[in-house]
Amino acid sequence: MCGIFGGVLKKGAIAPLIHDGLKRLEYRGYDSVGFATIDAGTLQVKKDAGRIDDVVRRLKMNNMPGSMGIGHTRWATHGAPEMVNAHPHTDCNGNLAVIHNGVIENFMELKEELLNKSHILKSRTDTEIIAHLIEEELKGDISLQEAVLKSIRRLEGSYAIAVISTLDPGKILVARNESPLVLGVSKDGTFCASDVPAMLPYTNQVVYLRNGEFAILDQDGYEIRLVSDSTVVERSLEEITWSQEMAEKHGYPHFTIKEINEQPTSLRGALRLQPQYLGLLTALLDRGREVFLLAAGTSYHSCIAASYMFSRLARITAFPAISSEFIEQYGSSVGVDSVVLCVSQSGETYDTLKAIDYARMKASTVLGITNSVGSTLTRVSRAYIIQQSGPEIGVAATKTFTSQLMVLAQLALRLALMKGKISQDEGDDFRENLLRIPDVVEETLNRNKTHVMDLVDKYGGEQLFVFLGRGISSSTALEARLKLLELTYVPSLAYPAGESKHGPISIIEEGVPVIFLCPRGESRKGIVGGIMEMKARGARIISVCEEGDHEIIGLSDDVIEMPKGIKDIFSPIPYVVPLQLFSYYLAVQKDLDPDMPRNLAKSVTVP
Ligand code: AGP
Repeated sequence: MCGIFGGVLKKGAIAPLIHDGLKRLEYRGYDSVGFATIDAGTLQVKKDAGRIDDVVRRLKMNNMPGSMGIGHTRWATHGAPEMVNAHPHTDCNGNLAVIHNGVIENFMELKEELLNKSHILKSRTDTEIIAHLIEEELKGDISLQEAVLKSIRRLEGSYAIAVISTLDPGKILVARNESPLVLGVSKDGTFCASDVPAMLPYTNQVVYLRNGEFAILDQDGYEIRLVSDSTVVERSLEEITWSQEMAEKHGYPHFTIKEINEQPTSLRGALRLQPQYLGLLTALLDRGREVFLLAAGTSYHSCIAASYMFSRLARITAFPAISSEFIEQYGSSVGVDSVVLCVSQSGETYDTLKAIDYARMKASTVLGITNSVGSTLTRVSRAYIIQQSGPEIGVAATKTFTSQLMVLAQLALRLALMKGKISQDEGDDFRENLLRIPDVVEETLNRNKTHVMDLVDKYGGEQLFVFLGRGISSSTALEARLKLLELTYVPSLAYPAGESKHGPISIIEEGVPVIFLCPRGESRKGIVGGIMEMKARGARIISVCEEGDHEIIGLSDDVIEMPKGIKDIFSPIPYVVPLQLFSYYLAVQKDLDPDMPRNLAKSVTVP
């Protein structure tokens, strides 16, 4: 997730506005920054790794001449956060500059094609190929607009793109597919940005570009066209009435709820991983005599879920290990034949890094899944995957949890296919089910907001909650409970349902709310017995179950009904979502700050 800002002014320099606009988008990413402007027919580009203010001051970017230009603040997805990988990227001749937010899935094949045509690519990014594709198209003696369109039609993946060129120095050409882009118009000029807050100081008259659309901006306004056939699209401006602060949170009162609601998008991003990295991790995982899944907090809950996925799909025993316990628990046995797959949103968690040091010292193969390119985890891993969730500001992990699961599910599926543990048809069936999940999460969010708020009204005064699930749903229960602890501070317990009768049931009294995770599937039979045990002791049952599951619905005091058809091995991804909402709205009801829970830090970098 990166930030884009550009503008064509009627008069005056654009560079200070780009600086200001990018500052307002800094929440989208902040590892490197760059501007490109055109003045007197000459393209100027300045960029470097670092925070926006530091780089802009050091390179004197606010003094760049020109009344039109584009700027970018980067959250690395391909290539480390270094100057060479910072946007804008240029063609071989330095005549055009491109900035991009998103992931180009077919960039490896396009890159190879361009290298064969003697293009010189300097960076490790997917973005740079766009500049060279346009350059290549321009050799066909067509207009800049045609060349940009033809190039965009070849891109697969997600993108918001802005292009400027000395060939048409009064215009910015933009396009969008699945990454946000908004245009704004004022009496002083025309703007484009990833998000409304960037342009609010200049205009509140905006128009949102939609998927598959392309626009040409000049100082007097914009024209929108379809990428597919250049048909002109008529769309009028909207007036934005949000304050600056509301706009940064997309109109939501907190980052946490914004991030919960972003999950359909972040999950789509996690389904768009580069196949070669997935393939590399799969091959390395397969080489291990034993696999450890190492993490802390929420990421550990992902690892518990993954241990079920690896076992069920790929028939691999993978041991989930808490980072701070790893050395004592497995230190003597871990060795050269061990593969340690480390999961860390930040890639900087002290306990995880310490355990990695130990595993490396014992010559184990260390692999990583993280949301932070350039983090320590990416440097110490033999191979790693970036989960593509975009920055998460809320201290409580929400969208990064579900994306971790999405990455782990894809690894488990690939391993299963590679080892021949499932047939190609079964693999296709699982894959189709995974592909449905972003839509299922979207539907879950849309249909449950009011219902969950009603549940918060009903149960908000309770002093104790219990979360239970069987099989892979025990990981959902653990994560749902952690969200409740972090966001509301209400004491609670989470257990595998079958284990609850071995002790935890002693705390059940009349009226205690017990939340059961009951997706359909292998674990579904056993859950009914668990519900009966709790009901017999007076518990009030809240079930998260598939819609139309009349047996569970009949046994429950309240239900959250989930869309049908998701396999239980993938169920933690959608099933945790309504319970994230529950904890969030309960925190709001209690007048707590969900974005910054007490005593917690986003990344725990101390022992
Ligand atoms: C989750 O809501 C917490 N903020 C915390 O448990 C977190 O998951 C843990 O500290 C691990 O962080 P990491 O994924 O960045 O390593």
